[in-house]
Amino acid sequence: MYDTGKIILGILIFLVLATSPFWYSKATGQADYLPDPVILTKDMPGKDVCVMPTDYMRSSHMDLLNDWRNSVVRDGERKFVSPNGHEYKKSLSNTCMNCHSNKAEFCDKCHNYMAVDDQTCWSCHVEPKEEL
Ligand code: HEC
Ligand code: HEC
Ligand code: HEC
Repeated sequence: MYDTGKIILGILIFLVLATSPFWYSKATGQADYLPDPVILTKDMPGKDVCVMPTDYMRSSHMDLLNDWRNSVVRDGERKFVSPNGHEYKKSLSNTCMNCHSNKAEFCDKCHNYMAVDDQTCWSCHVEPKEEL
């Protein structure tokens, strides 16, 4: 006879272990997992750095995107000057995705892991053509 109780306990322990990175980051609310993003950079000014320092981008890129959208849509202001003096056009498709053209490997991988849903953006904004 199998010991049903032990089997169920075993399955429960397995599930908890298998999903722990997920609920751990949910519970602590920390983006402590980094999916080692590959950056495929096209012809952009200062292509080895982001539009803001990496730490800021890691924690706050959604706020920056929000600011960009508001200033473009409300004020028609499309110019962004980064702290290191590079000039960019405030554009999700034409600026962010020109450098991060590997959306699946970069944005999606991290979002999937963190269970973030940014899919709504891409019903209006053009996704980059994957070149991997
Ligand atoms: C219903 C359609 C729609 C959705 C959904 C949408 N946007 Fe937009 N967005 C627009 C339009 C229209 C503009 C204005 C485009 C312009 O004037 O160049 C805009 C402008 C922007 C801009 C500044 C200009 C540009 O071309 O990038 C940013 C940044 C932006 N949106 C980010 C986002 C993000 C991030 C999301 C998802 C959270 C999102 N948008 C979802 C329609 C949409
Ligand atoms: C000029 C090219 C370029 C542009 C434009 C650009 N990035 Fe970046 N981005 C980079 C580079 C290069 C890095 C990695 C920097 C490093 O390793 O320190 C990076 C890092 C990041 C990170 C952090 C990744 C990590 O390791 O945690 C995020 C998130 C990000 N970018 C999102 C965006 C978004 C959103 C936009 C548009 C608002 C954008 N980037 C525009 C080149 C760019
Ligand atoms: C290092 C991991 C990481 C990378 C890489 C990353 N993101 Fe995010 N992103 C997050 C996290 C975590 C959140 C949710 C933050 C929150 O809920 O406060 C988020 C939220 C967002 C949101 C807001 C979604 C919403 O509906 O609230 C947008 C838009 C977004 N990211 C766009 C991008 C784009 C575009 C890229 C690639 C250029 C990118 N992200 C790369 C981790 C990442």
